Amino acid sequence: MAGQSRKLNVAMIGAGFMGRAHSNAFQQAGHFFDIPYELKLKVVCARKREAAEQFAAQWGWEGSQTDWRSVVAREDIDLVDICTPNHTHAAIAIAAAEAGKMVLCEKPLAMNYAEAQRMARAARNVPTVVWFNYRRVPAIALAKQLVDRGKIGQPYHYRATYLQSWGGDPKVADAWRFRQSEAGSGAMGDLLSHSLDLALLLNGPITELTSTLKTFIPKRAVDDAVLLLARFANDSVGTFEATRFATGCLNRNCFEIHGSNGAIRFNLEDLNRLEVFDGGDAMEIQGSHNVLVTGAEHPYARHFWPPGHILGYEHTFITTLADFLACLAEDREFHPNFDDAAEVQKLLDAVETSAKNRTWIDVSK
Ligand SMILES: NC(=O)c1ccc[n+]([C@@H]2O[C@H](COP(=O)([O-])OP(=O)(O)OC[C@H]3O[C@@H](n4cnc5c(N)ncnc54)[C@H](O)[C@@H]3O)[C@@H](O)[C@H]2O)c1
Repeated sequence: MAGQSRKLNVAMIGAGFMGRAHSNAFQQAGHFFDIPYELKLKVVCARKREAAEQFAAQWGWEGSQTDWRSVVAREDIDLVDICTPNHTHAAIAIAAAEAGKMVLCEKPLAMNYAEAQRMARAARNVPTVVWFNYRRVPAIALAKQLVDRGKIGQPYHYRATYLQSWGGDPKVADAWRFRQSEAGSGAMGDLLSHSLDLALLLNGPITELTSTLKTFIPKRAVDDAVLLLARFANDSVGTFEATRFATGCLNRNCFEIHGSNGAIRFNLEDLNRLEVFDGGDAMEIQGSHNVLVTGAEHPYARHFWPPGHILGYEHTFITTLADFLACLAEDREFHPNFDDAAEVQKLLDAVETSAKNRTWIDVSK
C-alpha cells in the first residue's frame, strides 16, 4: 500500500450480513485505493463467543469479544463500526463518540429522529459515517455527476422504487427486522431510508410529503410496504415505493429522474448500468443509452478492473470506506455522516406521522 502511514485500530460490533460486508471492505480498501492509513482489524464483537471467534478467524480480526461496552472502552481502538440491529445503534454510537472514537454506523441511523439527533450531537466532535453505501455505486455516482452538470436540465419527476419479496417468507418471520422494538419500522427504515438518502443526494431537499403504510401479515408490528408522494425544493415532484412484498423482485432498488433536457434510470439488480436519455441528441437517434459504468472515466471503476470487468455489491462498501479515509486524511467532511442520516430519519418520522394521520406534512423546516 503506497503512502501508508498512520495505523488505525478498528473495532466492529455485529458479525452478520453487514459484518461480512464491512470486514471485506476493511480488508480490501488498501488493496484498491492508495489510503494513507494502515487498518488494524483489532476486534470483532458478537453476542455468542464461539460465533465471534469463528468470525474473527474467518475474516482476519485479531480478536473477538462479546460485550460491546468493553470494546468501546478500549484505549487502543480508534474507530468503532456498528453493524448491529437498529435499536442498538444509539447506545453504541453515543458511548463510542463520548470515548473519542470515530463512529461508522449502519443505516437506518436510529429508531427515530429524536434519537438520531442525540447521536449526531454526541458525535459532533468525531468523524462519522453512515453506510448508505449505494451512493458509491459507480453508476449512481455518475448519475450525481450528470445531474450536477445539468445534463437532465430542470428535474420534473423523481421516481424511486425499492422492491424486495422476502417479507412473507415464514422462515424469517421471527427475524429482528420484523420486531418493532428492534427494527423501529419495516420496509420504511430498511429500504425507504436508502431511497430517501439517494433522493436527497440527487434531487435535493424534500419540502412536503404524504404517505401510506401497509402491513400484509396480521399481527406483524412493522410495515411491509410504504408508499410516498413528495414535493422537492427544486419544484419537482416525487413518488417512492418500498416493499418486502414485490413478488419476483429480489433487491430492485431503482430510481428515475425526468428533466427538461433528459432522463436517467438506475436499477441495482443491474448495478453496472446507467440508462441515460439525452434530449439534445439528434431526433433520429434519440433513445436511452445503456451505459456500462466500468470505464476509466467513470467514478471509482479505474480503482478496480479494466473496462467491462464488472463490479458488485461488495465494492460499494469498499468505495465508501476509501472515500471516508481520504476525507479523514485531508481533514474534509465525509458524507453521508450522522447529520445527513438524521435528515433521512426526520423524513421517516414524517412518513410515519403522515400515514397515521392521513395528511400532508411540511418537512421544509
Ligand atoms: N447498508 C445496507 O445496505 C444494509 C444492508 C443490510 C443491513 N443493513 C443494516 O445493518 C445492520 C445489521 O443488519 P444485518 O443484516 O447485518 O443483521 P444480521 O442479523 O445479519 O447481523 C446482526 C449482528 O449483530 C449482532 N448483535 C446483535 N445485538 C448485538 C449486541 N448487543 N452486541 C453485539 N452484537 C450484537 C448479531 O449477533 C449479528 O451478528 C442493521 O442496522 C441493518 O439495517 C444495512
